[in-house]
Formats: sequence, structure tokens, C-alpha cells
Amino acid sequence: MNQAKHIAIIMDGNGRWAEMKGKKRVKGHEAGSEVVREITEFCAAHNDIERLTLYAFSTENWKRPRLEVEYLMKLLEKYLKNELETYIKNNIRFEPIGDLRAFSKSLQKTINEVQQKTAHCDGLVQSLALNYGAKDELLRAINNIKCSENDITEEMLLNALDCSHDVDLLIRTGGDHRISNFLLWQLAYAELFFCDTLWPDFSSKELEKIIKEFKKIERRFGGLK
Ligand code: IPE
Ligand code: IPE
Ligand code: MG
Repeated sequence: MNQAKHIAIIMDGNGRWAEMKGKKRVKGHEAGSEVVREITEFCAAHNDIERLTLYAFSTENWKRPRLEVEYLMKLLEKYLKNELETYIKNNIRFEPIGDLRAFSKSLQKTINEVQQKTAHCDGLVQSLALNYGAKDELLRAINNIKCSENDITEEMLLNALDCSHDVDLLIRTGGDHRISNFLLWQLAYAELFFCDTLWPDFSSKELEKIIKEFKKIERRFGGLK
């Protein structure tokens, strides 16, 4: 039976969730951060799941109104500071992916601190994709490979990527059926699940159902059964 060792989630629908309730979009992000906690704790308690990669802020999300971007930055800093204890208590290692240089010094410091303070944890790896874009990740990786004579090998590229782990199960909430520049290389053979639930309404119960469906799929990787 398949194991969902690496689950990746495009957490979409926060803004629509808030707007439907007559609230400001940022309220949706706040509610969404509670669901990040719930899903992370669920995955940490699940022995089969080794890695959870969550799309939190894309390289394209800078196009949003300044106030929304500022709110997201503040929320991220608050979340990481509050969660440090939870990470350690649940043996979760925090590993950000994305180009962190675009963030304020203070946010970069918080991100680095949480990463360092959870480096010893050997349970679930929770990876937050922050200022992440798959095209940007691939370009940074290729430019970082010092390769004058030899051709670039798959191993060299994997070592240079922010995330060198293939995804088993990709979930996108919010009803859209697109990848939005998330983990293009790592999704090569992932099973894709799209659900209409807006991220603040997503739950560990729904994730459990998706994992159950995922386990039934025949994954062939180009071969024959
Ligand atoms: C996802 O929710 C969170 C981020 C992109 C930061 P959205 O903010 O995209 O919510 P919708 O898609 O507009 O409803
Ligand atoms: C994808 O959601 C990015 C994150 C969830 C962080 P978007 O809302 O930015 O994606 P598009 O614009 O609908 O493709
Ligand atoms: Mg969206």
C-alpha cells in the first residue's frame, strides 16, 4: 500500500473564506494559520508521514496590496514565535524553503532561530515555502552549481534545490486546479488531489480521508503492474 511520506499542500482560499463571512481578507489568513497548526500536529502524530511542505507565500504573492503583504509577514513572525514550543514538544523540525533574503532582517532572524532550535528534532519535517517559486528555486539551484566541465547530473541538481524530496501526495484546497509555481521538479510523480474546501475550513479529518484514497491508488511510475 502507498505511503504518504511526503505531503505537500497549496493552502488556498483564505481570502474567499473571510469575504464570504463579511470579514476582511486578513481574517482568513489568521484562521488559516490555526489550520496549519492542526494539520502539522496531525502529521507529526502519524508515523508514516515524514515531511509536510506547506505553500505559505509565493514569489508572486508580492503583487498583493501592501497592507495584506505586511499582515502576512507579521502573522508569519507571530506564528513562528508562538509555535517554537509546539515544534519542540512534538519533535518537529522546521525547514523553510524559498528565497528568504527578500524578508526583513527581523523575520529572517526569527526563521533562522526556529530552524536552529528545532534542528535536533527527528520526527516530522515541517517545511514552510516562503517567498517560494519553483522557477526561482530551479534557477537559483542551476546558478549555484559550479559546473564548468561536467554536465549537470540529477544528483547535483537535487543537492542544489531547496527541497530535494519527491512529493507523494499534493493537495490544493480552494477549488482551483493549478500548481501556481509550487515544487515543479518534486511533483513529477506526485498524486494530485484538489478539493473545494477553503483552507480555513480544512481539517485533519478531511486530510485523513484524502490519505485513505491516496493509499488505494496504483502508482506505476511509468512501469507496469
Ligand atoms: C492562500 O489564500 C494564502 C496565500 C496565498 C498567502 P488566498 O489569500 O490566496 O485566498 P483566496 O484564494 O484569495 O481566497
Ligand atoms: C498559491 O495561492 C500560493 C499560496 C497558497 C501561498 P495563490 O492564491 O497565490 O495562487 P493563484 O494566484 O490563485 O494561482
Ligand atoms: Mg488564492
